[in-house]
Amino acid sequence: MKVLIYGGGAREHALAWKIKQSPLLEKLYLCKPNDGFAYLGEVLDAENFTELAKISKEIGISLLVVGPEDFLIRGIVDEFKKAGISAIGADKKWAMLEGSKSFSKEFMVRNNIPTAKYKIITDKSQISQVLDEFEIPVVLKADGLAAGKGVYIACTREDAESMLNEFLEGKYGNASKKIVVEEFLEGAEISLISLWDGKTLLPLIPVRDYKKLLSGNKGPNTGGMGAYCPVSLTLEEYKELENYTNTLKDALIKENADFTGVVYSGLMLTKEGIKVLEYNMRFGDPETQALLIHLDTDLLEIFKKQSEKKLDEVELKWKQGQSFCVVVAAEGYPETPIKGGEIVNIAEIIENNDVTVFYAGVQKQDKKLIANGGRVLSVCKTGIGVQKDIYDAIKQLDYENKAFRNDIGEVSIFGKGCCKDEGTGDNCGI
Ligand code: AMP
Ligand code: GLY
Repeated sequence: MKVLIYGGGAREHALAWKIKQSPLLEKLYLCKPNDGFAYLGEVLDAENFTELAKISKEIGISLLVVGPEDFLIRGIVDEFKKAGISAIGADKKWAMLEGSKSFSKEFMVRNNIPTAKYKIITDKSQISQVLDEFEIPVVLKADGLAAGKGVYIACTREDAESMLNEFLEGKYGNASKKIVVEEFLEGAEISLISLWDGKTLLPLIPVRDYKKLLSGNKGPNTGGMGAYCPVSLTLEEYKELENYTNTLKDALIKENADFTGVVYSGLMLTKEGIKVLEYNMRFGDPETQALLIHLDTDLLEIFKKQSEKKLDEVELKWKQGQSFCVVVAAEGYPETPIKGGEIVNIAEIIENNDVTVFYAGVQKQDKKLIANGGRVLSVCKTGIGVQKDIYDAIKQLDYENKAFRNDIGEVSIFGKGCCKDEGTGDNCGI
């Protein structure tokens, strides 16, 4: 198979790394890869999706794998479908489960999928009445995509009012002109990433992402500072997950969700059971890095079956132990990451600690690897007792602006409720 992977982060590096191992692969093509993994394939680019689909067809690409959500929402899959190329990714219509929080909430309510109670605000005159219906803390979500920054947990009524005003005044442009006001849920989060082929919903093992910037779950929310899998769950929780998956599958079938792609459920394990925080229609980052180094099955074979609508024939096999991924970001991330700074001794730390490194914000300059983004790289390893190797590798990493959490894999920090346990006046850390 000739395969095209679209996107340039550590998640796409992991997808390329895994697909590259498949005997089914004839040639790998990459669109917008970063310099750290561009060597894994031939780089393709085009003016727009229509053009890219045309070129892909001409050279015999039979499968597109899409990383980031904005391309899905802008309709890349629809263009490839028109050109007769299969894709792993939602079409424009279903990408809205991620692209609009209100669309996603309505889908959940219509299908009895458990989620936090909510109300929509589109005008300042509604603020007071709507807030009267919620306890504090209360969660405010910009309806549209806001580069991962559109969720705000307000710890006081005044705080909620002022942020709602800011949102409506266009803090995130049109994305925040409509707001989902939502009940605050307490519990531990898990990400359940499932593959969907129009008939079968195949969940991968549960994985946990660490969204807060700092160790101990403090500081602002980020795109994710690390992940591990599988998450240990009780039998009861596993049963709940299975029930949840069945409910979601029934909903997708009932609503004729005719795409082959990913449904990522952000879930909160609350005292009242599992509740959905959000849907993403793509692989998670950094969850994917942890999942793919732990997956034994040939990923391209899975994708091939999925695009043939035969996911029911796939049996997933996983390695022994647990898999961990620690993100190394640039000091100042997420607001003002320091750009620049050479990453000197990657080959050495990989060899010394037997870790796998996936690149995100890096650039090659005169054969040197330079950091140029917020999240710079992911250091991953799977097995038994492997966290130490990852942290040893990061300690040895010669990159002066490195910032990372030192508690990826630690579970005691969850389930406390972010407003109550800090006492820092830190606005729930969001
Ligand atoms: P989202 O983009 O909707 O996943 O929100 C980002 C993060 O905000 C989640 O991963 C949670 O940590 C937090 N969050 C979102 N919704 C809620 C909620 N209803 N209650 C508590 N925390 C939430
Ligand atoms: N790690 C969270 C996400 O991919 O949205």
